[in-house]
Amino acid sequence: MDLLSVGDLSPQELKSIIEETADIKKNPSGYIDRLDSKTLVLLFEKPSTRTRVSFQVAMFQLGGNAIHLDTDRSQLSRGESPADTARILSSYAEGIAARVYEHSTLLELAKNSSVPVINALSDLEHPCQTISDLFTIYESRGGFEGIKVAYIGDGNNVCNSLILGCSMLGIEMSVASPEGYMPDKEIVRKGKGVYVMSSPKKAAEDADFLYTDVWASIGKERERDERMKAFKEYQINRELLQHAKPDCRVMHCLPAHRGEEITADIINSDRSIIWTQAENKLHTQKAILLRLMG
Ligand code: CP
Ligand code: NVA
Repeated sequence: MDLLSVGDLSPQELKSIIEETADIKKNPSGYIDRLDSKTLVLLFEKPSTRTRVSFQVAMFQLGGNAIHLDTDRSQLSRGESPADTARILSSYAEGIAARVYEHSTLLELAKNSSVPVINALSDLEHPCQTISDLFTIYESRGGFEGIKVAYIGDGNNVCNSLILGCSMLGIEMSVASPEGYMPDKEIVRKGKGVYVMSSPKKAAEDADFLYTDVWASIGKERERDERMKAFKEYQINRELLQHAKPDCRVMHCLPAHRGEEITADIINSDRSIIWTQAENKLHTQKAILLRLMG
């Protein structure tokens, strides 16, 4: 099984990964050697701090091994195809986690790999991020019943996966994005309980969680000036927080640009669960690896 989209999981599988994460976090020593002698290749076209390191540490703590292969240093940079690369890597390793510019590269890897391929971020989705975010919500509220998440900003990969994940678990989700930067239409169409709008205040109304991500994702840096203008009303700050529930918590997948999509005081406030959210990537990556490679 591959994990290229949150939608590759059934709602039941998604819930069970989240439940297993709770146990892994509480009892990490119970999982030592569960991936004994297995290898994960991390094939990354783009930079990463959290995803790369959490997968590597997760493999190590599960008794396996991880190899990071920067695409610039592999034969992909000299024109070898993703198809041939997948065929070769899957003859050495038990899993491939790939971070790519174009989602179609993941499809080509998966089609030619005999081992599971995990989307470690593409232009379309960031499913491992969403699984970790949903676990963080579950941990923070003790369940998903009656929860509303408001995503403010760029309707990007992180937003697309979060829409699918929230919809699968019955979480209401409002997305506020400027015209031209809305989430993927097909994903919104599939989602249940998803409301896309342009007003951040309206989206934030009665939210349990306010979520944001950078205004210019990796690969969009050249559009920075126009994006700064388009998104200037889409910042999570004290004023916006007043529209949400009084005990609303703030989330961000990181890295953050303080003073752009979120203010520094909110990141550091007791409303922020951003650091726990980042830590949880380690625990959820383990549950994902066990599901796919165990
Ligand atoms: N949130 C996330 O995926 O971070 P990295 O880009 O550092 O992996
Ligand atoms: N949307 C961001 C997420 C980084 C984790 C990006 O694609 O760069």
